[in-house]
Amino acid sequence: CGIIGYVGTDDAVGTLLGGLANLEYRGYDSAGVAVRDSDITVCKREGDISALEAALDGRSLKGTLGVGHTRWSTHGEPSDRNAHPHTDCRGRVAVVHNGIVENHDELRGELEAAGHEFTSDTDTEVIPHLIEAARRAGDDHETAFRRAVDRLEGSFALVALFADDDRLFATREGSPLVLGLDGDEFYLASDVPAFLEHTNDVVYIEDGDVVVLSRNGPTVSSPLGENVTPDRKTVDWNPEDATKRGYDHFMLKEIHEQPHAVRQSIQGRIPDSREYVALDEFEPGEFDDVRDVQFVACGTSYHAALYARQFLLDRGIPSNVHSAGEYATNPPPLEEDTLVIGVTQSGETADTLASLRYAQAAGARTLAVTNVVGSTAAREFDDALFIRAGPEIGVAATKTFSSQVVTLALLSEVLTRDRTGSYSDQLDTLLAGLQALPDQFESLLGTNEVSHLLESYRGQDAYFFIGRAEGYPVALEGALKFKEITYEHAEGFAAGELKHGPLALVGPKTPVFAVFTGRNVEKTLGNVQEVKARGAPVIGITHQDHDKVTAVVDDVLPIPAAAPCLRGLLANVQLQLVSYHVADALGRDIDKPRNLAKSVTVE
Ligand code: G6P
Repeated sequence: CGIIGYVGTDDAVGTLLGGLANLEYRGYDSAGVAVRDSDITVCKREGDISALEAALDGRSLKGTLGVGHTRWSTHGEPSDRNAHPHTDCRGRVAVVHNGIVENHDELRGELEAAGHEFTSDTDTEVIPHLIEAARRAGDDHETAFRRAVDRLEGSFALVALFADDDRLFATREGSPLVLGLDGDEFYLASDVPAFLEHTNDVVYIEDGDVVVLSRNGPTVSSPLGENVTPDRKTVDWNPEDATKRGYDHFMLKEIHEQPHAVRQSIQGRIPDSREYVALDEFEPGEFDDVRDVQFVACGTSYHAALYARQFLLDRGIPSNVHSAGEYATNPPPLEEDTLVIGVTQSGETADTLASLRYAQAAGARTLAVTNVVGSTAAREFDDALFIRAGPEIGVAATKTFSSQVVTLALLSEVLTRDRTGSYSDQLDTLLAGLQALPDQFESLLGTNEVSHLLESYRGQDAYFFIGRAEGYPVALEGALKFKEITYEHAEGFAAGELKHGPLALVGPKTPVFAVFTGRNVEKTLGNVQEVKARGAPVIGITHQDHDKVTAVVDDVLPIPAAAPCLRGLLANVQLQLVSYHVADALGRDIDKPRNLAKSVTVE
């Protein structure tokens, strides 16, 4: 979910709607606002922001203080009544919340027994009722807010607005919350893009701290009420980064931003001599006692970690990749000399944070590889390494995958150096390959060759993606992208695994995308022959002039002949374009695919 609060001089509704539009990638099954003038007025609707805008049309919600919310449902179906903000019985306090109140059943029972009437199925609604109960018992606004928050278990970021107070009250515990400062206008939001068009002057709020925000500015205090000096930071994202810049969708813009994103990822990290890697985040020798690496990640980041594992294996570093949702609840053994790397674009994915927290508590060394400087992952663990891709708004991750892999490739050499005393013998090839990559992305993106496939492969039963080594995570990522945004059935497999079951599904109406990176070509071609023998059309993603492959497959998506260990990244761009164009032809809501959210802050 995305939350926003505004205190200032301007019309709050317009500002809140603008902020919500920028946060829609965090959830979009319902949206709402509450604005205070002499009283609180709430308007909320099932559907995306346009449904809320239509509901607001013609209504005059005056006021320069308000909160807004865009929802990704956890408790309770998407509906008008389950949409946020939620209020107490008398509508004197309104709350927007991101996260989960785990003890909501118990709290609700208690509140209902005391006469509170609930109007939604959400866990959130207990919060305004708890605040109301404290107000009735005589607490002032801040004390009532704090008393309510003290009762909550789970993860949350929340903002509350009172009918009889001209301040906003906010706090967080495990879910993101950032304050934006712009003269006499102030914002509270789940993420910086919400207000980036107004200001890049921010304060990341720490877990447990309470913000009281008035026209005179914020005061921040600790859970015990002690004053905290806000640590102001300037975010180096540009407001333009959070716009579509003329593209039809954020996803297409972000696919085309990959040359730039990768240039930023390697900038200053590869010297002209290519004799070393400069990751200033780490002191030389910092990782000399690392025995093995465990990656934890979800979704696209999980695939980036799988790709990165190949760099480590090629350099003799034992490593495994774990789905963070599993790791958090079913962790493998780990020691103090295990390095646990959480790969997370947003730095806020609850499963990944929980895994890293587990590893940290178990005494392992933790490192967050993330795109968001002030994110929870960046701040909470032993080290942070930034991928520098710039803001990614499309729900389907694209440029951050490339930047994650590139950054982790550099890290693989730093780990090698620290563990063995010297860089690997692949250093020069890797660094030269990385330097060449942005131009290769550009040349591939300049010749968009996927559209001819659309007609041939429309309306099939299922779409399969196969690959080996670094081609395997690319196959998984190709399938994930395809299912996320086209809603067609797509699965990715290790090429060798296909014959152990999935082959039963293969036939003339199941096109197979085969990723060739130059490694194990013969073996993958063998698997291609197996599916061709069952009548499946095969689209090979391979470098130009790769005659062995082009002779066998039905169609080719060509990629420049990059360093073999990086070809998977170029193949991935081709598959991103395939998914994009198929989804576009099917009329899907590409930037906001159904049921998904960009940043999932619940476990
Ligand atoms: C969600 C998104 C995916 C994303 C995953 C991990 O499920 O829909 O696109 O890959 O979270 O996100 P992270 O921010 O941790 O990389």
